[in-house]
This record gives sequence, structure tokens and C-alpha cells, in this order.
Amino acid sequence: MLRRVPFRLVLSIATILVVLALTGCASAEDNPQTTIDPGGAAADIVQDIYALIWWLAVAVFVLVQGALLYVLWRYRAKKDRDPSDRPTPVHGNTRLEIIWTVIPAVILVVIAVPTIRGIVDLAERQEDPADAMQVNVIANQFFWEFEYPDILNDEGEPVTSTGMLNIPVGERVELTLHSNDVIHSFWAPRLGGKTDTIPGHENHMWIEANEADTYAGQCAEFCGTAHALMSFDVVAMEEAEFADWRDQQVAPPEDPEELALELIESTCASCHLVEGTSAQGTVGPALDGFANQDMIADEVENNEENLRDWLADPPAVKPGTEMPNLGLSEQEIDALVEYLYTLE
Ligand code: CUA
Repeated sequence: MLRRVPFRLVLSIATILVVLALTGCASAEDNPQTTIDPGGAAADIVQDIYALIWWLAVAVFVLVQGALLYVLWRYRAKKDRDPSDRPTPVHGNTRLEIIWTVIPAVILVVIAVPTIRGIVDLAERQEDPADAMQVNVIANQFFWEFEYPDILNDEGEPVTSTGMLNIPVGERVELTLHSNDVIHSFWAPRLGGKTDTIPGHENHMWIEANEADTYAGQCAEFCGTAHALMSFDVVAMEEAEFADWRDQQVAPPEDPEELALELIESTCASCHLVEGTSAQGTVGPALDGFANQDMIADEVENNEENLRDWLADPPAVKPGTEMPNLGLSEQEIDALVEYLYTLE
């Protein structure tokens, strides 16, 4: 005879199913930091190992839970069963003990072989560094700086970018990771695993992007109050587009308005929004109407002198601000001051 199924059991099962269904809705578009939609060769290595372990875990789960449910059903309490009737203990059953020792050992070997191979592949540096684009990643509380030692500007200095790592599509890019202060962790989930940046020590990793796209990245090691905001983008560009970007970096525009707009759309865009430009950041305040504001960062009066001080070193003006010192040059500050006062 069927007994009534308790309402709480139905509710629990329904909740589990809904959670499972919702966690299944992981597309790179909805979840830019998903790891299960790899966008390049390094991330493929990680995902292949993860998939292997996941499917093995599914098989173990199904077998163990299946056996458990079967036993629960098969040996459930019955009126006609004698309660003193006990099953024979399996303690000392050599064959059983060998089986349940060998099975996990085999599973561990199956996982270990591709894992070790993956670790070696990911650690391998290109024999000839000229074969791979090199980038120095410098972590700071709380922003990422990227230095391109192979791309020199007209003063012979390596080109740099902040908050945005620009790479060509389909090319292996080798990263040398540094930290200026505390331990951070470089992580662009769709392009590869995490690697710590450690003060006084260099770490290495490589990434590669299959498609032109913007890949979300995040500091993955708690590093202070603004850790969660320490994000970056890896922008993978087709060859021609990358060449344009490189040319632009090598010879920054002379025209202040052009220079300001370029800074707004590259550096400022990570956090700020400016109507009519590609700067659509939402972490910081929108910059439209800046010229009419009474205050800068709710801290100092809005005038040209204070704006210069602010752009040169925001934390010096307002300790604890999330806006980092971007290392802007005089020329860049001039251009930005002029531009910001046109935003009415
Ligand atoms: Cu840097 Cu967390």
C-alpha cells in the first residue's frame, strides 16, 4: 500500500532539482568567469582534467548511491522478518578488501597521469622566447599593470597598459608575474589556471585565446579591502586589430583630445562610464557632468589644481579610495583635465 509522501521530502527534492537546473545554466555570456567554457589551449588542459575527474566522480556517485538505495530497499524492515536474523559480517574477507583497495588506486592513477602531464605542459616555457609574445604582469593593490617588453614606444620604453591585457588571437603569450606589494593571484578563468604573484619572486604561466573576445579576469587571492574589485580584461584581437593597437601604443597621439579619449576608452573604461564612448564601466561613478560637480570623489573641491593632484595620485588625496595611482604622465594628466571639464 502506498503511504503518503511527506511534504518536506517533496520540498527538499524539488529544491535540489531547481538548484541543479540553475547551476547548469552556465554560459560564458551569463558567467564571464566560468571555467567550463575554455577559450584557449592552456584552459583546455585544465578543463580536460576537470572533465575527467567530474565524470569519474559521477560514475562513483551513481554506483555507490545505486548500491545504497538497492540495499535499503532490498533489506527494508518487514513484519515477517525475524529481528534476531543478522547478516554475516564481511570483516576479514580478503577478496573484498583487495577489490576496494584496488579500485580507488586505479582511479587515482587514471587521474594522476593526465594531471602530471598537464602540469608539465603548462609549466613549459617556449625554448626560443621570440616564438611567444612576452608580457610582464605587475600586480598592485588594487590594479593590474601589463608591460610589453617586445613593444617599445618612441622613447625606447616598453609599452604598458592598466586593467587590460591586449593579446593577439591564436598566439601563445608567456606571462612573467610580479607583485609590487602583497600576494595576489592572476586568474583569467576562460584562458587558464591561477598563478600567484609574489613580492620579490617571479612566476611564469602562459595563455592563448582561440577567438577575438574580451575575457574576464580576477585577482584570486585575498589581498586587502578592494580585492574583489581587482579585476581585469584580457582583450584578444585579430592580427590587424592588434597591429593597430600596437601602433597606437608605440606612438601615442599628440592631439590632447585624442589622447584623452584613448585613455578614457582604455584605462578609465574599466571603472567609469562616459556617454558616447566605449567607456561603460560601472565600478566607479559615471563621468558625465563632471564639470558641474562641486566635489572630486566627495573629498576635495572640484578645481583644476585638485583634479591634477587627484589624477596624479588618488590615494594620496583620499586614503582608501578604490581608484589606484595609474602612473599617468604630465601630458596625459593635461589631456584628461582638459577633457573632463568638457563633460557637462
Ligand atoms: Cu589582488 Cu586580491
